[in-house]
Amino acid sequence: MALPPVAVLGGTGQHGRGLACRLARAGYPVVVGSRDPLRAVRVVDEWREPCPIATASILEAVQRAAVVVLAIPFDAVDPTLRSVSPCFAHEALVVDVTVPLTFVGGVAGLARVAEGSAAEHVKARVPAHVRVAATFKTVPARLLHAADSPLDCDEFVCGDSSSARTDASALITAVSGLRAVDVGPLSRAQAIEHLTLLAVAINRRHHVHDARFRIVGL
Ligand SMILES: NC(=O)c1ccc[n+]([C@@H]2O[C@H](COP(=O)([O-])OP(=O)(O)OC[C@H]3O[C@@H](n4cnc5c(N)ncnc54)[C@H](OP(=O)(O)O)[C@@H]3O)[C@@H](O)[C@H]2O)c1
Repeated sequence: MALPPVAVLGGTGQHGRGLACRLARAGYPVVVGSRDPLRAVRVVDEWREPCPIATASILEAVQRAAVVVLAIPFDAVDPTLRSVSPCFAHEALVVDVTVPLTFVGGVAGLARVAEGSAAEHVKARVPAHVRVAATFKTVPARLLHAADSPLDCDEFVCGDSSSARTDASALITAVSGLRAVDVGPLSRAQAIEHLTLLAVAINRRHHVHDARFRIVGL
């Protein structure tokens, strides 16, 4: 069966780039959605990726995709979703990778989100027919960039339906060295986002860059 087309909004950024390249290498048709599509062409060209990665405006990328990865800063979620909401394909899957991290006085924290988590915040801002899953929140962007090295870790996934979790898990499994760990409903995203904060703290305390998670006993 053909793999669904994936739009990576913010694919020109740190985290989105790794996701776009890894998914393209796994055979997904990938389009990077950018506020500045001309700059995105230049950025993607510089990657010299062996697999084709298209570029488009945010709106066009969403229109073309069955899966939309939100790889933009959390602060940019509201205006971005407001502008693309009417463009989602029926039953499209939004994969939220955002983490509302804050750095105040050099100390990392999580912004308070009224809905409980960034993923639930996203769910409240997409049309009812759009499915939402949260994942790729704890895998370090730096490692995703190194497209040839296996990541050798688990990636948690939660979602608003079993189909959302299944489709998001397929993306995770397509990335070499990642194992998908389904943790249930979208409300678990809060716990996942706290794990990202924990990974940031571990990196700082132990002077490393790529702390990540592996569940034993599964
Ligand atoms: N970095 C990590 O290790 C990591 C790990 C887990 C999760 N995350 C999450 O992944 C998301 C992206 O992280 P990142 O480090 O890749 O961020 P980033 O590099 O700062 O930004 C990613 C892209 O988002 C777009 N963007 C930036 N500001 C925007 C705005 N105000 N409105 C709309 N689009 C904007 C830009 O693309 P265009 O200019 O092309 O539109 C940019 O290249 C964040 O929510 C972060 O919490 C990151």
